Amino acid sequence: MGRKFAAITGVAGYVPEDVITNFDLEKMVETNDEWIVSRTGIKQRHILKDPTKATSDMCVEAAKDLLKKTNISAEEVDMIIVATVTGDYVFPDTANLVATKLGATNAFGFDINAACSGFIFSLVTASKFIETGTYKKIIVCGSDKMSSILNYEDRATCILFGDGAGAVMLEPSDSSGIIDAVLKGDGTGCEFLHMKAGGSLNPATVETVQNREHYVYQEGRVVFKSAVKGMRDTVNEVMERNSLTNEDIDWIIPHQANKRIILSVADQLDFSHEKVLMNIEKYGNTTAGTIPLVLNDFEHKFKKGDKIIITAFGGGFTWGSVLIEWMY
Ligand code: COA
Repeated sequence: MGRKFAAITGVAGYVPEDVITNFDLEKMVETNDEWIVSRTGIKQRHILKDPTKATSDMCVEAAKDLLKKTNISAEEVDMIIVATVTGDYVFPDTANLVATKLGATNAFGFDINAACSGFIFSLVTASKFIETGTYKKIIVCGSDKMSSILNYEDRATCILFGDGAGAVMLEPSDSSGIIDAVLKGDGTGCEFLHMKAGGSLNPATVETVQNREHYVYQEGRVVFKSAVKGMRDTVNEVMERNSLTNEDIDWIIPHQANKRIILSVADQLDFSHEKVLMNIEKYGNTTAGTIPLVLNDFEHKFKKGDKIIITAFGGGFTWGSVLIEWMY
């Protein structure tokens, strides 16, 4: 018996209608379009303004489209994983809500919180349920409503993030799919990127709200350097482990945090920029949403057999790279 693979058999994405451009941000904080574009590559980000909607609703929009594209009914889905740091509630998990809103009555699910690495951690977790033959159809969503945890008076963070969701279908294959993955973590990174209050360490109080501790806190320069190193090293590791050279790789799909981070990774790995896919200018950093949104935007370019490396870095710190052979 040969190896069973978990293959991505469809992708879909969703971003809310409302857009905040850099020019809009100029009216909110002391910043300007030129600074934001030259330091990050971001021109605009989509924001979920409807106060009655949350991360689960964006996942549902992406997942509905995914079911349509793959011609799979909601009842056929075995399992749903949602990667997010902005679940609708602290509990219950968002995946459970997504399953119910989608009509996936035979599915169970859970959330994975690994910040910007959440989608790749979830993809690899889901792949194990397929490889072992336990399940046949798994939806992996990556989604964040970052606008719900951003301080729109902090110019160092509010310019970076946006809201959005992406979803992929994983199914068994005898020939190709997720080939290998290198996943890493280092809790000493917590101090540089976290939300100070709202967890069990510092539950919400009047003081935590007054001190604006329910927002993203970030020391950007440390995160920048760690992100470049983490993505570069794990791309190298997964290539070496599989005896691959740059010529063997068709596409690099990096987490979309900052165009300069992405291009530094590409340059340090000596990859031509044409192989490195980016849509950060349109969406900013949607945290767990970035990678499936890139997959969705560039799906038309992929051919069966293409070798793709997905790489991410995020709060935790968490990071890693996944080697995929495209299925369709
Ligand atoms: N508009 C204008 N000026 C700004 C600004 C903004 N939005 N944000 C910061 N500045 C200023 C700073 O105050 C600083 O001014 P000073 O020199 O007078 O002190 C100057 O610009 C440089 O700040 P610095 O933080 O060193 O800029 P940077 O080149 O590191 O860019 C980030 C800042 C946040 C864009 C960058 O560090 C980054 O992208 N880090 C990684 C973040 C990330 O990807 N996080 C997601 C998790 S993976």
